[in-house]
Amino acid sequence: MSEFVPGLAGVVAARSAISFINGTEGVLRYRGIRIEDLAAKSTFEEVVYLLIEGALPTRTQLAAFDAELRALRGVPEGIFALLRALPTETHPMVALQAAAAAMGGFYPHFDVSSRAGNREAALRLTACLPGIVAGFDRIRRGLEPLASKPELSHAADFLWLLNGEVPDAQETRILDLCLVLHAEHGFNASTFTGRVVASALANPYAVVSAAVGTLSGPLHGGANEEVLNMLRTIDAVADVPAFLQGRIDNKQKIMGLGHRVYKVKDPRAGVLQELAVALFEDKGSTPLYDIAYALEQEARVKLGGKGIYPNVDFYSGLVYDKLGFATDLFTPIFAVSRVSGWTAHWLEQLEDNRIYRPTQQYVGAMDAPYTDIDSRGA
Ligand code: ACO
Repeated sequence: MSEFVPGLAGVVAARSAISFINGTEGVLRYRGIRIEDLAAKSTFEEVVYLLIEGALPTRTQLAAFDAELRALRGVPEGIFALLRALPTETHPMVALQAAAAAMGGFYPHFDVSSRAGNREAALRLTACLPGIVAGFDRIRRGLEPLASKPELSHAADFLWLLNGEVPDAQETRILDLCLVLHAEHGFNASTFTGRVVASALANPYAVVSAAVGTLSGPLHGGANEEVLNMLRTIDAVADVPAFLQGRIDNKQKIMGLGHRVYKVKDPRAGVLQELAVALFEDKGSTPLYDIAYALEQEARVKLGGKGIYPNVDFYSGLVYDKLGFATDLFTPIFAVSRVSGWTAHWLEQLEDNRIYRPTQQYVGAMDAPYTDIDSRGA
């Protein structure tokens, strides 16, 4: 195949049994199971098991798996030392990328031929990311990182590590649900990045670090932070039509809208929107939701014909904001969840590996003469 496909749109780069997406019908399934069912009935720990092991666990399997995850939560003190060395204004995604790579120094894992060793590294990464994200957030606030509480679930422990307070059941369930929704999404840009790194047989910390770097971009996971920043620039619902038209006229993207695969509303956006509405009913509404909703309706009219609808990032930030998370932690929360998908793909890649090495269409000069440095001018 020698055709150039910008952005590799529609190019099949692998066979994968981890998740299925139908972009015209708005369907997402993890290992064949509908995301709506998982969101309604499963915890994040169950979903991690599903992604890594291939099927939902029994109660006994889940208990053993959960215990393994809890036992792997400890972040090495040296990682916190590294995070302390960063300027406090460092974006948490930059800190997370550095820390994820540095984990490879504490847990050297250069022999990826051992399935058991690989599985443990995958679980360690999922187990440790909350502690890294929360640890950096506390360090930049002049606080000490906290030790994980083994009696807490993954979501509850993350909230504890961030806030120093054991969260209530509602907060825990909401975050847990967000983690379930963000865990896996096929060959998106960060997962593809991770699989490319994996295909060179690099260590898993390099795989996840590279994926974090890709996720941080505003066209990908970084959009959740940008959505909230964008909504804050709109003063009132009445300003929404002019805002949207201005963006369209200036050929500027509306953050949180559009998707390479979904040409209808992202099913995760629907679940997050329902969650946001329930949360606002309980804890008091925010004008930002009304603005977001009006923007979705207006965009449906003006951009729906092009298949541009809300993606997962459109409503997630509103939920995180209401839960009290700093805006620049939204994308790291995404990473805390997606690490499960990245590591599932890492393991799958190693099962049948061939290094990714596409080709290019050379469009540069040919037969350029070599000019000696002294003859090249000043
Ligand atoms: N706002 C306005 N117009 C848009 C948007 C948007 N958010 N997204 C796409 N379009 C338009 C483009 O301008 C283009 O129009 P044209 O054909 O008239 O030139 C057309 O739709 C196709 O857009 P592309 O950028 O080529 O689509 P692509 O599939 O390459 O990009 C992407 C998908 C990156 C998600 C894009 O929709 C976008 O930039 N959205 C905003 C950022 C965002 O929300 N990213 C998060 C995605 S979900 C995730 O990664 C977790």
